[in-house]
Amino acid sequence: MKGIILAGGQGTRLYPLTLITSKQLLPVYNKPMIYYPLATLMQAGIREVLIISSPRDLPNFQKLLGNGGHLGLSIEYAEQESPNGIAEALIIGEEFIGGDSVALILGDNIFYGENMGPLLTKLGKHQEGAVVFGYEVKDPHRYGVVEFDDEGRAKRILEKPEEPPSSYAVTGLYFYDSDAPRKAKQLTPSSRNELEITDLNSLYLQQRQLSVELLGRGFAWLDTGTHEALSSASQYVQMLQERQGIEIACLEEISWKKGWISDEAFAFLANAAPASSYGEYLRRQTEFVALLR
Ligand code: G1P
Repeated sequence: MKGIILAGGQGTRLYPLTLITSKQLLPVYNKPMIYYPLATLMQAGIREVLIISSPRDLPNFQKLLGNGGHLGLSIEYAEQESPNGIAEALIIGEEFIGGDSVALILGDNIFYGENMGPLLTKLGKHQEGAVVFGYEVKDPHRYGVVEFDDEGRAKRILEKPEEPPSSYAVTGLYFYDSDAPRKAKQLTPSSRNELEITDLNSLYLQQRQLSVELLGRGFAWLDTGTHEALSSASQYVQMLQERQGIEIACLEEISWKKGWISDEAFAFLANAAPASSYGEYLRRQTEFVALLR
């Protein structure tokens, strides 16, 4: 399975933070935002990743993550020339996907929870149809929303409905089979002139190929779309990290624990990291390297 992170958009709701940089490079507590969705893909076992962003911002993502080799990944980059919608990512990424299945994640979506790892590992092997997640929110009209039938099965998905049929928003993490680029090409732009991911999911749903997994209370799906939400997400990460002495979305650690980089490579990264709390955390983990030997 391949992975795509869409880090496009103008980030206008975060103005003036986004005047000179991409929203997905802004800090969520102590890491650039894109670390979190990248960590999510890595937890699903995905090692080949395409990052899609605007021509203005793509060079900065390249500076940040390079070809991914130091993380045991292969990272490629592609431009989305203008914000033509989330589903366009599957068309831009068609060659990269190369007939494989694909997980698409929005670069501003943060997932966290005890069972996220096992769930993602299971879905990372997903091959047929599509899987999306429903998550209960207070303000569903801001999202894609799932409508359920009497038996609790997903009946429709509506994009930003004025009167939401449920409080279940569709999150920005999508698993698709190899047919996704072909299906995405069948879509026509919406009234806001975008290829809507909700239209692609509706196509899968009409063909009875969509499953909607509900994420319960034990999961956190955090929004970063407004100043308030961005600050809350930072506080959430800070609070958990300080309480437990762990780092959320520590890419080097995930890669090392997955066995994608050697003990020596991990120790090298840890020792090369500057003296920030993140660097100190990496160095503390290398004590476990010694214990494992
Ligand atoms: C997009 C999707 C929406 C989804 C949301 C998740 O919204 O269109 O269906 O629920 O991402 O973050 P947008 O970011 O375009 O407002």
